[in-house]
Amino acid sequence: MTNTNQIPNSNIGKEVVSPVLSVKDLTVSFRTNDGPVSAVNNMNFEIYPGDTVGVVGESGSGKSQTFLAIMGLLAQNGEATGSAILNIEGKDHELVGMDLNRLNKLRGSKMSMIFQDPMTSLNPYLKISTQMCEVLRLHQGMGKAAAQQKALKFLDLVRIPEAKARLNQYPHELSGGMRQRVMIAMSLLCEPALLIADEPTTALDVTVQAQVLRLLHDLKTDFNTAIVLITHDLGVVAGVCDRVQVMYGGRLAEIARVDDIFYNPQHPYTRGLLESTPRLNADGSSKHADLPTIKGQPPNLQNLPAGCAFAPRCDHATEHCQKEIPTLRYFNENHAKACFAEGFSQSTLLHGAD
Ligand SMILES: Nc1ncnc2c1ncn2[C@@H]1O[C@H](COP(=O)(O)OP(=O)(O)O)[C@@H](O)[C@H]1O
Ligand SMILES: [Mg+2]
Repeated sequence: MTNTNQIPNSNIGKEVVSPVLSVKDLTVSFRTNDGPVSAVNNMNFEIYPGDTVGVVGESGSGKSQTFLAIMGLLAQNGEATGSAILNIEGKDHELVGMDLNRLNKLRGSKMSMIFQDPMTSLNPYLKISTQMCEVLRLHQGMGKAAAQQKALKFLDLVRIPEAKARLNQYPHELSGGMRQRVMIAMSLLCEPALLIADEPTTALDVTVQAQVLRLLHDLKTDFNTAIVLITHDLGVVAGVCDRVQVMYGGRLAEIARVDDIFYNPQHPYTRGLLESTPRLNADGSSKHADLPTIKGQPPNLQNLPAGCAFAPRCDHATEHCQKEIPTLRYFNENHAKACFAEGFSQSTLLHGAD
């Protein structure tokens, strides 16, 4: 294992690609009547242009708060420290602590975020065309005719049938799947460098979910947008993501290419997540009658242990793990883990012999 927590330079001899997002020591804490809640703790990671990165972890592991902090959308009682730099056309923008005016210029144009329920972001009283054109007027100063044309193009792009008619409809006239497509179209209108999708398909039924995921997958070939796909479901990332970041207790447990997450997981928590992910039969039914769940409880974010937050649930934990927090370290170019345990051999967890 290399003794560094930096991503090794994989671009020697190639054109150097700068990350679109560089996050350093990002920490999010909430003030509550019961004391501070450490929701995100010293996160370090980079997102590259055109990459689709899955962010997975149990509910409450800090996935949403990490990216809400980056978007400047934390609740009133939350505070972010550290650094999150958005790089747009060679220019760095520090997002942590950025004033609202500047943030608003970047949000919706250079970076955008979509949520599980599109109705939280769509205005129920305005027609789809009005909402889409407003984005283009605000961020790109477009006139009405040009904006309408672009809005139509983007509804076509996200494969909304009869897009022209849809433009004149109100959000409630569309199905949940169609509304989510409209949200994706709206979030892409200004061709952002970074799109954060927080559980975008959780509320949709399985067939529509697959269509929306395929859409996100296809869109990255049309734009060079980096997509962050937040989900509690490892199955969702399999077909869509290039890389995966696994979170536990507000920290990164493992970062790897998607194949390595499934075939060669190195953090005991990732292995636990995979064991509790159902294998699907061709007809969509699950192979496991009873899913194994990871024993024990998620950590108390108001009273995190001195050592590794996963240690109380980990079969491999030693005294060392209880005393010291393992930092995220790259042991090869693309694979990092925050764990003191020796490496595990190639896994047959998910795709092993039946
Ligand atoms: N406004 C808030 N006040 C106090 N704690 C909060 C607040 N918002 C989120 N949290 C806590 O932060 C933790 C991480 O939340 P979140 O990032 O939303 O989890 P998830 O991984 O499910 O997206 C949770 O335990 C949650 O209770
Ligand atoms: Mg969440």
